[in-house]
Amino acid sequence: MHLHAVPGRMPAPPSEPAETLRQLIAEGVTWGDSTAWLPQLPPKSVDLFFTSPPYADQRAYSRIHPDRYVEWFLPYARAMYDATSDTGSLVINIKNRVAKSGPLRGQRHPYVFQLVLALQNMGWRWVEEYIWQKPNAIPGKFGPRTKDAFEHVFHFARGQKPYFDLDAVRVPYKTTADEIARRKLDTNGRRTTEAGFGRDRVTTYRHGGADPGNVIAVSQTYNQHRGVAHTAPMPEGLAEFFIKALSPEGGVVIDPFAGGGTTSVVARRHGRQAGGVELHEEFAIEARRRIAADIADDIPGHAVGFSA
Ligand SMILES: C[S@@+](CC[C@H](N)C(=O)[O-])C[C@H]1O[C@@H](n2cnc3c(N)ncnc32)[C@H](O)[C@@H]1O
Repeated sequence: MHLHAVPGRMPAPPSEPAETLRQLIAEGVTWGDSTAWLPQLPPKSVDLFFTSPPYADQRAYSRIHPDRYVEWFLPYARAMYDATSDTGSLVINIKNRVAKSGPLRGQRHPYVFQLVLALQNMGWRWVEEYIWQKPNAIPGKFGPRTKDAFEHVFHFARGQKPYFDLDAVRVPYKTTADEIARRKLDTNGRRTTEAGFGRDRVTTYRHGGADPGNVIAVSQTYNQHRGVAHTAPMPEGLAEFFIKALSPEGGVVIDPFAGGGTTSVVARRHGRQAGGVELHEEFAIEARRRIAADIADDIPGHAVGFSA
């Protein structure tokens, strides 16, 4: 399995690694093939890879059979590992599939979980699984199951102490202002109660907001009407959550499967240095147009209860 540059008209990366990174950040989204660009990044130069790769066997641009998905993804994962800083992370948004053929036909295909295991074996530390819950998931015919109302978001880190800013993604407390004020006067400290096992209730409300938990509710974006042609754009609210929590301000955020450029748009908006690589020229052009205009194309795209 070797990474190789795609011949033809598609631009190849510069031979200098520092120049490769500089170009990606300058362009926002670069037309190219990540198999060529990722290995050219300087070692340990990226704070966060945040991406939604093509899902198995799904769209015209992909056609990656679930049985071969892990094999297909591993070279990208290897190159990203080398380019990730010691405190850096890789976040992958990926969706379950139902096997359409073979012995597993009609069952959930395990490729998502096989990918997690393969990345762990490669040395990536599996920090967390988040569930992206879609309050507006589209109904349809799914066999003996409900509609798909969530996708996986896996967080991997290169080192033992990845950058993580919980305060950046806290959500408003659910309890009333009166109750918060009352708790602040409560000086009894740690005790076991029905509501909080041995928790120090005095400090519960001193963080400026609640821990949002690992289920993130963000409405799916349907924004073709706004001129965003990409068929699988991720909602800005999802990108925002992970960019704020897992990359420092001024840090480097790269999306190797950039699509319509959501990662770069959001990361730049939040003061990160952001770039991406996109195989299809028309998507890359559109992404750059979007970055330039910074289209807020995501009307319902803020996480429910997640205030930016
Ligand atoms: C699921 S989409 C990403 C959507 C994106 N998150 C957005 O909000 O628009 C995956 C994208 O990866 C691109 N892609 C697939 N293989 C690639 C490769 N080797 N290098 C760069 N881009 C690739 C596809 O063209 C597609 O646009």
